Amino acid sequence: MHMPVFLSGEKILLCPVDKNMDLSEYLSWINNQETTLYMSSGDFPTCKEQLQAYIARQYENKNIFLGIFTKSNDKHIGNICLYITDHQSHRGEVAIMIGDKKARGKGYGLEALKLIIRYGFMHLSLNKLCAAVAPDNFASYKLFERAGFQLEATLREQFYLNRSYRDDLRYGLLRREYLEMQKGNTR
Ligand SMILES: CC(C)(COP(=O)(O)OP(=O)(O)OC[C@H]1O[C@@H](n2cnc3c(N)ncnc32)[C@H](O)[C@@H]1OP(=O)(O)O)[C@@H](O)C(=O)NCCC(=O)NCCS
Repeated sequence: MHMPVFLSGEKILLCPVDKNMDLSEYLSWINNQETTLYMSSGDFPTCKEQLQAYIARQYENKNIFLGIFTKSNDKHIGNICLYITDHQSHRGEVAIMIGDKKARGKGYGLEALKLIIRYGFMHLSLNKLCAAVAPDNFASYKLFERAGFQLEATLREQFYLNRSYRDDLRYGLLRREYLEMQKGNTR
């Protein structure tokens, strides 16, 4: 791996996304209507310059924006981002995309999410992590529930995505719940 590694897991590495790296695959993910079906970013086409500016903004804004790379072949398969949404209340928001369809359903998303959860709670000392999930995004709410998130609220018709209004399922995980889960894992 010739990229700097920020967090390392069993099957994946989380690395900063270099805006000057080959972005052709990443561009194909975010311009793919199926991939972005449940995301807020898919309504308008994105070109390379916009994507480079978006990546630069992530680091300027001090978001924990990381590419997900498979350890076996250094392939960029998706991204995960932790936004610190409230410094005062120690709260963050997580968003994830496994853009490479062939890489879905192999546990990479869950591993990336667990790495970012640990980083958020243990390194950044956050107290709560949140996530927004569309009600029919089965893969996404399975993923967050598997990582220990609980459904906290349904915001009705919160988003207009792909020509229809969608509810926003608000998921949350508290630091103390995470620590309890960790205790359970080592028993
Ligand atoms: C949601 C997403 C990140 C999941 O990543 P992934 O790597 O495919 O998920 P994993 O393989 O780690 O699976 C995690 C859990 O979710 C379940 N899961 C994943 N995809 C699923 C699907 N399509 N249907 C049912 N369950 C699914 C897995 O079975 C696993 O649970 P298990 O361990 O109990 O079997 C991925 O599908 C994706 O990027 N989708 C497009 C973008 C998107 O919708 N992002 C989320 C916006 S909130």
